[in-house]
Amino acid sequence: MYILGIESSCDETAAAIVEINTKTGKSKTLSNIISSQIEIHQKYGGVIPEIAAREHVLNIIPVIYEALSKAKITPKKIEAIAVTKGPGLITSLITGTETARTLAYVWHKPLIGVNHIAGHIYSDFLELKQKIIFPLVVLTVSGGHTNLVLMKNHNSFKIIGETRDDAAGEAYDKGAKMLDLGYPGGPIISKYARIFAESGKKNTIALPRPMIGNGLDFSFSGLKTALLYKIQKDPNWEKRVPEYCFAYQEAIIDILSRKTITAAKKYGAKTIMLSGGVSANLELRTYLAAKVTQELPKNPLIVPKLSYTTDNAAMIALAGYYALQSKTKTSWQKLKVDVNFGL
Ligand code: KG4
Ligand code: ZN
Repeated sequence: MYILGIESSCDETAAAIVEINTKTGKSKTLSNIISSQIEIHQKYGGVIPEIAAREHVLNIIPVIYEALSKAKITPKKIEAIAVTKGPGLITSLITGTETARTLAYVWHKPLIGVNHIAGHIYSDFLELKQKIIFPLVVLTVSGGHTNLVLMKNHNSFKIIGETRDDAAGEAYDKGAKMLDLGYPGGPIISKYARIFAESGKKNTIALPRPMIGNGLDFSFSGLKTALLYKIQKDPNWEKRVPEYCFAYQEAIIDILSRKTITAAKKYGAKTIMLSGGVSANLELRTYLAAKVTQELPKNPLIVPKLSYTTDNAAMIALAGYYALQSKTKTSWQKLKVDVNFGL
């Protein structure tokens, strides 16, 4: 079965064709086209919704056309269209949802609205060879959300932990802004942290781990403020940027990893997964893998391919496939999103 996925929730306009074997559930990404606006928004230090909206309008049709031609698929062969319905920027989402709705109407295809977070979770299932054993706990971390989700099967999602303030990616982005490093913050902070780690020097900057012993929810605003106060009191902070990045990233990764292990133990997870834009972070992957080996040696840790970590439409297509399979609406479809768009 071929599914066309469409994603436009933030600053990436994306379309993908995913082929799914309906007997085995195995998937193959035939095309995964992403038009990124990062360079446009970089000069403003973050995403400007009005600019993002205009870019989506310009890009959506060429991106869908490219996804179809790269996959060598005609609209006739597509069996369903899956589109991100939220959460995200409303003015960005509307381009994807209205385009998907129009194509579904013209091509006579079923239309499936996909929750963006469910999409990120399915990035772990894309082109996966091994069989997944449920229940699983997935840490999904991006610029807009930080969630621990328990999945008992493909149609059972339960949020067991979430951030009470900033998302993990947002903490990276805001930390990078304080250190005058530009946008997006994750890759830059990670680069400087690596420079410090490779220098062999000892980190002397102590940063807090807010809410670490306190349930499965997260809080990153206190960590961000602690970084700000340290910089304000340090006349030499500009010379110590790599060390600040190292200490800040270490705190974020430590909090994320420890809470994920606690959640997996609490809910008897057989599999642990990581997803979302922040899952591109190599230090997070390494640290979490070491923790899983140490504390839950029998449980596999699944991480998405790097090309599926940030926003893409292949993950939306696969999440759409599982939503379509279920006779009733999945719990994700019932979840509150910013705007329903009638999907
Ligand atoms: O999933 P995504 O593309 O968009 C949202 O749904 O928000 O995630 C973007 C976020 C940004 O905050 C960015 O700083 C972060 O993912 N990010 C990273 C890395 N690459 C992207 N964070 C840490 N390390 C990275 N290598
Ligand atoms: Zn995302």
